[in-house]
Amino acid sequence: MSGRVVPLTPRIGAKIPMRREELLDPSFADECLAALERYGVLLFPQIGLSDEDQVTFSKNLGEIIPMGPMRADGTQEAVYKITLDPQENPSGAEYLKATIAWHIDGLFDDGPPAKATMLSARRLSATGGQTEFCNTYAAYEDLPEAERQHYESLRVVHSLEASNRSTNPNPTPEEQASWHAAEARRERSGRRGRSEHPLVWRHRSGRKSLVLGMTVDHVAGIPEAESRALIETLTAHATRPEIVYRHEWQLGDLLMWDNCGVMHRAIPYPPDSGRLMHRTTLYGLERIEGVQSAS
Ligand SMILES: [Fe+2]
Repeated sequence: MSGRVVPLTPRIGAKIPMRREELLDPSFADECLAALERYGVLLFPQIGLSDEDQVTFSKNLGEIIPMGPMRADGTQEAVYKITLDPQENPSGAEYLKATIAWHIDGLFDDGPPAKATMLSARRLSATGGQTEFCNTYAAYEDLPEAERQHYESLRVVHSLEASNRSTNPNPTPEEQASWHAAEARRERSGRRGRSEHPLVWRHRSGRKSLVLGMTVDHVAGIPEAESRALIETLTAHATRPEIVYRHEWQLGDLLMWDNCGVMHRAIPYPPDSGRLMHRTTLYGLERIEGVQSAS
């Protein structure tokens, strides 16, 4: 396969032009996961998968987190449709807000963050709607040695409230009440609305990455102003253009990313643009371990 892998930038992303049948072949799974680990983002240009194909491919790589609509039998469909069309997604505007800031999916929960997400481009927006990715391994590796050691000792609180605040810094009392209600609903359903993670994740592979994004509430144990300044500096460092890939979508593109090694965000697009992505997501296999907690 290596002959077909074409890096998209020097430090993040690769495209693998291939036929649908090759992609769906279970023997491609190991190579695909290795390429994902190495490049963080993989593009299969205009491969044009059906939902059934996308589910087959996703299952070859791991276990799907069902995110789609409920079926009559109470189970959930695997494929989630990302759209701002109010007919299909009544909370579209809220959804958009939540996707335009840099983030890693699933940091409120205690369990492992999702392993990977796949998006198929079904309809495009005439303006905006690109997706951006930054390499959080590179963000760690580019730090001076003395700073790395300091950051390895820090822990960060992530919360749903911080995520809301990142896109709406001056909420009304009603908005704030609805955030708290949402956080309480999550807690009641056994999920978390707030979690603490190390700033530096030491992966089982031995590689290290920074854990940042709009979910960051504060750095534990340091004054608020210092925490805010540190997060701002590190976020700017992690999202420098040289470690970012911006994807300009073509119809039929399949793009997947390693949710444990990149942050992502959507560039805003008009709610009536018609943009439609079909998404599948894989369960994570690895909890976020710090340098000191892992042995
Ligand atoms: Fe996301």
